[in-house]
Amino acid sequence: MYGNDVIDPNEPLNAAETPDYDAAAEHDDQRDGRDAVGDDFDALLAADQRIEPRDAMPDDYRETLIRQIAQHAHSEIIGMQPEGNWITRAPSLRRKAILIAKVQDEAGHGLYLYSAAETLGIDRQELLDRLHNGKQKYSSIFNYPTLTWADCGAIGWLVDGAAIMNQVPLCRCSYGPYARAMIRVCKEESFHQRQGFEILWNLMRGTESQQAMAQDAADRWWWPALAMFGPPDTGEAAKGGHTEQSMAWGIKRFSNDDLRQKFVDMTVPQAEKLGLTLPDPDLRWNEERGHWDFGEIDWDEFWQVLRGDGPCNAERIEHRRRAHDEGAWVREAANAYAAKQATREREQQQKESAA
Ligand SMILES: [Fe+2]
Ligand SMILES: [Fe+2]
Repeated sequence: MYGNDVIDPNEPLNAAETPDYDAAAEHDDQRDGRDAVGDDFDALLAADQRIEPRDAMPDDYRETLIRQIAQHAHSEIIGMQPEGNWITRAPSLRRKAILIAKVQDEAGHGLYLYSAAETLGIDRQELLDRLHNGKQKYSSIFNYPTLTWADCGAIGWLVDGAAIMNQVPLCRCSYGPYARAMIRVCKEESFHQRQGFEILWNLMRGTESQQAMAQDAADRWWWPALAMFGPPDTGEAAKGGHTEQSMAWGIKRFSNDDLRQKFVDMTVPQAEKLGLTLPDPDLRWNEERGHWDFGEIDWDEFWQVLRGDGPCNAERIEHRRRAHDEGAWVREAANAYAAKQATREREQQQKESAA
């Protein structure tokens, strides 16, 4: 299935297929050390145990998690737009079915994550309001347009691939509900990454114009995908970042630059396999470091898109707001149904206790 027919299924194609993921998933400890360390926040962190919603936690920790999980949830649902755009135009029934499944997965990821955020005591409606009025962000990558079918391939391969690299360590995040959501999310993202790789694989074995389309998509998505890991951890750009505190709290496990390097090291050989040229003249294997060297990311562009001046920022939020408004009747109907069910259950219970 999904791409295993074109490449050795035993060869890891993304971070969710590496031993790192298996180790992180195994860490699902469910507080096995609870008796030993008690409920104290610092003691739990020191013992590498998960913090659960019932535990006392510092306000800053709670706020940081709400911000991070909300941003992640917003990215999942806004991330449905660039590809959702292609469902009606996907080149075959098989491609449509796969793409619908992928976009639907992203909606599901948004739901797990909003639920995880709610365990921290914030309401989902409040989070959506913050998204719609621009107070909270989503990943800037989704402010780039999907111009051709090959973009769906590049997004799966590079954008989902980079997301997985970021999210595998989050399976070991100190906050239990977030960590557990990530274990499942990463498995699904792995399917997304393979389907993207397979789209490009087939285009690269097609006509000259299909190959050119795949190359063009890789040219446009490579640098924004590298920027997804966020600004560097050192120097001027690192100021005002959250890396240090997040690492101390066990929310983050690796620095932005470390994750970016891991992603480059994993992806460059895949580009070679596909027959694509990555748009970086400085890309070369560094024998001494045992890593790929790569060129300078355009951080001015990154900040510009983050501030709202990307090619699709306004369009994405406008579309999102409209979808929310048009879905009001669905939420109302669901609430009315839930209320009716609750009343029926209550009546049933009263009948039973009276009998
Ligand atoms: Fe996702
Ligand atoms: Fe995905």
